[in-house]
Amino acid sequence: MEPLAEDNNESPLEILIGGMVYKVPRYCPHRRGKLQYGFVNERKKTIACPLHRSTFSLETGEQISGPPCGRLDVKKCAK
Ligand code: FES
Repeated sequence: MEPLAEDNNESPLEILIGGMVYKVPRYCPHRRGKLQYGFVNERKKTIACPLHRSTFSLETGEQISGPPCGRLDVKKCAK
């Protein structure tokens, strides 16, 4: 994984895994944890919020675990 976007508060985070770019909001839908400090699992294609550990699928945006807060608005495209 390598971050692609510049680090400003306007642009989504861009996470590169295996030739795909996953664009992720900067803030968690739960209580606005900063996902730039989240934990990416490249094998499972998930990101976990550093604040309360909600985990989201990078493929679908669905919340997998953590305090209920809905889905993450993830966009996926080829590099
Ligand atoms: S702010 Fe992300 S899980 Fe609470």
